[in-house]
Amino acid sequence: MNNSRDFAGTVVVVAGGSSGINLGIADAFAAQGARVAVVSRSQQKIDAAVGKLAAHGGEAIGFSADVRDAETVEAALSGIHQAFGDIDVLVSGAAGNFPAPALGMSSNGFATVVDIDLCGTFHVLRSAYPYLARPGASIINISAPQAYVPMAYQVHVCAAKAGVDMVTRVLAMEWGYAGVRVNSVVPGPIEGTEGMKRLSPTPELQQAVADSVPLGRLGTPMDIANTVMFLASPLAGYVTGAIIPVDGGWSLGGASVVGAGMVKAAGKQE
Ligand code: NAP
Ligand code: COA
Repeated sequence: MNNSRDFAGTVVVVAGGSSGINLGIADAFAAQGARVAVVSRSQQKIDAAVGKLAAHGGEAIGFSADVRDAETVEAALSGIHQAFGDIDVLVSGAAGNFPAPALGMSSNGFATVVDIDLCGTFHVLRSAYPYLARPGASIINISAPQAYVPMAYQVHVCAAKAGVDMVTRVLAMEWGYAGVRVNSVVPGPIEGTEGMKRLSPTPELQQAVADSVPLGRLGTPMDIANTVMFLASPLAGYVTGAIIPVDGGWSLGGASVVGAGMVKAAGKQE
C-alpha cells in the first residue's frame, strides 16, 4: 500500500457495509484490489453486497450481526479474521435514523439509535482491535453533521453521533501508541441514500438541501470513499483523532435547513 489508491491485498472491514454510503466505500476499496468484508443485519443485503464487491475480481465476504449485540459482533470479527487474517482498515458506519420530535419519541426510540450508532461503534472497534493492533492500521468512523450541528427532529442522532466523534478522539489517544490511527469522516447530504430519503423525502426538499450546500450539489458515496481511502493510506500517516467533514461546506451553515424544514412542516415544535 504505497499511495491512496493502491489497496491490493489490503484487508478492509466495513460495518454497515451492505448498502448506501458504506457499500460505496466497500466497493471503492474492492475496485482497488482490497479483500473486503461487510457486516450488517440482513443476510439478503449482505449477499447482494458481496456479489457486487466480488464482481471486481477480488475476495469479498459478509457476516450477519447486529452491532447492538457485542457477542454477535465479536463472532463476526472473529470469522473475518479466520477468513482473511489481520485487518488493515476498519470502517464503522452502521446507523439508524428516523425523523421525530423529542416529544414524539419514546425512551426506546431514543435508546435504539444511541444503541446502534454509538454503542455499535464501540462494539465494532473494541471487537476488531485485537486483529488490527499494529502500526499502519486505520480506523474510520462514519459520523454525521448532527454530531456538531443541532438539528431539530434529530435529538437521538445528534446525541449518538456526537458520542461517536468522542469515541474517535479518545481511542485515537489510547490506540495511537500501538500505531493505530482513528478518525471520523462526516458525510454531508449524499444523493440516493436511505438517510436522504428519510430526512428529505421529496424532490423539493432535496433541492432545498442541495441549494443550502455551498458547493451547490448533493454529495455521492464516491466523495466519501475518496476521503476514507486517503485516511486509510500512508498519505494520512500523521492524521489521527480528526473529524473531517466531506460535505461541500454544508455544515458551515446550511445543515440546520433539514430540521428547520421539518419544524415548519409540522407547524409547531411539539
Ligand atoms: P443505509 O444505506 O441505511 O446504511 C446503513 C447500514 O447499516 C446498512 O448496511 C444497514 O444494513 C446497517 N445497519 C443498520 N442497523 C444495523 C445494526 N443494528 N447492526 C448492523 N448493521 C446495521 O444508510 P446511509 O444513508 O447510506 O448511511 C450510512 C452512514 O452514513 C450512516 O452512518 C449515516 O449516519 C451516515 N450519514 C449518512 C448521510 C446521508 O446523506 N445518507 C449523511 C451523513 C451521515 P442492515 O439493514 O442489513 O442492518
Ligand atoms: N418516530 C418515532 N419513533 C420511532 C419511529 C418514528 N418514525 N421509528 C421507530 N421508532 C421507535 C419505535 O416506535 C420503537 O420504540 P417503542 O418500542 O417505544 O415503540 C423504537 O423506535 C425502535 O423501533 P424498532 O422498529 O423496534 O427498531 P428496529 O431495531 O427494528 O429498527 C430503526 C431500528 C428504527 C432505526 C430502523 O429504522 C432501522 O433499522 N434503520 C436502519 C436504516 C437507517 O435508518 N438508515 C439511515 C441511516 S442515516
